[in-house]
Amino acid sequence: MKYFIRTFGCQMNVYDSERMAEMLDRMGFERTPDPRQADLYVVNTCSVREKPRNRVVSASRHVRGVNPDAKILITGCVAQLEGQSLMEEAWADGVMGTEMYHVFPDVVQDVMKGRTVVATDTQDVSGYTFVKAAPRPQGIVRYVTIQKGCDNFCAYCVVPYARGPEVSREVSEIIEESQSLVQSGAREIWLLGQNVNSYRGGLTFPELLYEVAQIPGLERVRFTTSHPKDLSDELIDVMASTPGVCPWIHLPLQSGANHVLDLMGRGYTREHYLGLVAALRDAIPDISITTDVIVGFPGETEKDFLDTYSLVEEVGYEGMYSFKYSVRPGTRAETMPGHLPEHVKQDRLQRLQSMHESMLPDILERKYLGTVQKVLVEGPSVRNGEEARGRTPTAHVVNFSLPGRRTPEDLVGMVLDVEITEIRSHTLYGRLAGAESRAAG
Ligand code: SAH
Ligand code: SF4
Ligand code: F3S
Repeated sequence: MKYFIRTFGCQMNVYDSERMAEMLDRMGFERTPDPRQADLYVVNTCSVREKPRNRVVSASRHVRGVNPDAKILITGCVAQLEGQSLMEEAWADGVMGTEMYHVFPDVVQDVMKGRTVVATDTQDVSGYTFVKAAPRPQGIVRYVTIQKGCDNFCAYCVVPYARGPEVSREVSEIIEESQSLVQSGAREIWLLGQNVNSYRGGLTFPELLYEVAQIPGLERVRFTTSHPKDLSDELIDVMASTPGVCPWIHLPLQSGANHVLDLMGRGYTREHYLGLVAALRDAIPDISITTDVIVGFPGETEKDFLDTYSLVEEVGYEGMYSFKYSVRPGTRAETMPGHLPEHVKQDRLQRLQSMHESMLPDILERKYLGTVQKVLVEGPSVRNGEEARGRTPTAHVVNFSLPGRRTPEDLVGMVLDVEITEIRSHTLYGRLAGAESRAAG
């Protein structure tokens, strides 16, 4: 039996898809790179905006068309929210929600036997079962989930409905999982949660981060996502003083206008956000800050938008994901007054993105060009298999050429000094620096 997993959405879904793959491997299934060969096609779905939500249906129907005998199981956030109606709309055989991964093997068996399965129950918050990650050869960068769900209910966001209440995973489970991944070759760990700063699993998040960074053999640890309202001085101190904690923070802004932040229910102001940026940069001078922005939230005026625009310009983010506000069923913003026409949202998005696109090369060149960066090698470069690809501590991808007959595979997992010689569309390019070059050659 062969399986194929298609994953939409955030790192949480990537993490969950990895767990499903591991469980299928243990059940004796074999992974196939071709959906037409699959006996089981899993679509792990995202509901955060309308577009990814709709792509689920087309992906599933497409597979039904090209591979009519495959069993199709839809998992993840859209499955949780829409259940049976989604299964019917997408011509699938089963749906499984976000809190059922611990019974995934049973769900698969039922689906393979030809039963229609709607598994969208939720678990009790006390005693919530997290599915453990398994070691994997060549898994240099691994995710570890520290928290599920979200209690913030930002007015636009469907995640608290799709993922349920926030539950923090036990410290001991997180440490054990991280240790086992490091023992099997991981050099970098990403701690995942919708709002890692509200972690309450026996330690504070900064304490947990410190503990993970102490694991022998672990080179780097990073985390995402940090909600600005809960970012503490303690976190900044731990980031600044703990070797191995990467100088990178994803700090979603959403809006630079206090009026809109208030409507969104984000719990911070523009001034507070800028204060955090200043404190982070003061304590960690080489930190990279990246963000998420929503334009066209209901009630956003042109002046509000310009507040966002100026804040993005002022901070000089090293990366930005920006989105047009998308109505999500059941959220508070759905029924708020002042929904904006598509063309206004589109125009604001385009202005924001083109401003950021035009400033980013300068930001990256000033900071990185001619410097020597510690690059953790993850594999061959995507475009050119003779070059190696890795990341800086600040999470930028670097492609670099290799001396002599070394192949990228030889260097996977090593941290090498790479001199940055060029920057093209957000990607850094370089060559091995001095002594490293001789050693690696
Ligand atoms: N927990 C994270 C965000 C998870 S969702 C946080 O609090 O930052 C990822 C991003 O999707 C959000 O940061 C937001 O920018 C965007 N997003 C969420 N809901 C959206 C909506 N209804 N319309 C447009 N963008 C949205
Ligand atoms: Fe959504 Fe807000 Fe929770 Fe992030 S913190 S997942 S934006 S509700
Ligand atoms: Fe999407 Fe669910 Fe993540 S809605 S962003 S996959 S938590």
